[in-house]
Amino acid sequence: MSKPPVLLTRRIPSAAFARLDAACDVDLHDGASPLPPDELKRRLKGKKALICLLTDKIDGAVVDAGLPDLQIVSNVAVGYDNVDVPAVKSRGVVFTNTPDVLTEATAELTWALILSLARRVTEGDRLIRRGEWRGWALDFMLGMELRGKQLGIIGRGRIGRAVAAKAPAFGMTAVFAKHDMSLDELIVRSDVVSIHTPATPETRHMFDRRTLARMKRSALLVNTARGSIVDEEALVWALNEHLIAGAALDVFEKEPSVHPGLLPLENVVLVPHLGSATRETRTAMADLAVRNVIAVLSGNPPLTPV
Ligand code: GLV
Repeated sequence: MSKPPVLLTRRIPSAAFARLDAACDVDLHDGASPLPPDELKRRLKGKKALICLLTDKIDGAVVDAGLPDLQIVSNVAVGYDNVDVPAVKSRGVVFTNTPDVLTEATAELTWALILSLARRVTEGDRLIRRGEWRGWALDFMLGMELRGKQLGIIGRGRIGRAVAAKAPAFGMTAVFAKHDMSLDELIVRSDVVSIHTPATPETRHMFDRRTLARMKRSALLVNTARGSIVDEEALVWALNEHLIAGAALDVFEKEPSVHPGLLPLENVVLVPHLGSATRETRTAMADLAVRNVIAVLSGNPPLTPV
């Protein structure tokens, strides 16, 4: 029996690729940048499955290009703001993501950002590299101690809860918006605000000028969720006006572009969307995406449908 044809829009870790290759006839786009929309549509014709990344835009027109053969779109990410999910599902195509396997990696990166920002790690690193370190001093590069502080978490999903679970190790009290207190109270009272909510029309620019201005002047903002939740223009304004003490961002509104106003600011930590970027997690994500495809193409239910 011939193997079902699938389109894979980017190279994935070798163990996951081997599993896919054994079960399917793989058309791999091996390029460093996403497939242009027209080529994506052209190569999707006749395929039974599409394995895509968060850098691929999947809308109704893309799915139509794969019909009537396309049975599943498998996104190698937990977030799926790159996919028009109603458009996929209304065409009778299964849609899956990769929850759970990236929870710990993303929570770890969140803590890396909180610690880097509070203790000025990247700022100190830059200072040393510029040759500007003049030696130890009692009042030099003082940061904020985490112990005794409140960590306000927006989003009580898997990642938000995993971040909260590590708070006691640093002596912080974690509170969840809408659960422990209102969103406004959390914003007004928290020393660190960390975002773990999906990108939706409702959360777009949740952190605008008004919200940022309500935070403590000593507060730090951390975003490892999606760039659209923070209005970068407003964030630059709030940082320049010293309305908050710093920000750490793993995600941006127009990746890979970063608002130029953020670049000169020392109290900003910038990371290139690395939330799930550990060898273990990326392998597990790709493997889960592949197993979803194999399940559906063998007539079984998907493991992690959306
Ligand atoms: C990464 O950002 C993901 O959504 O998996």
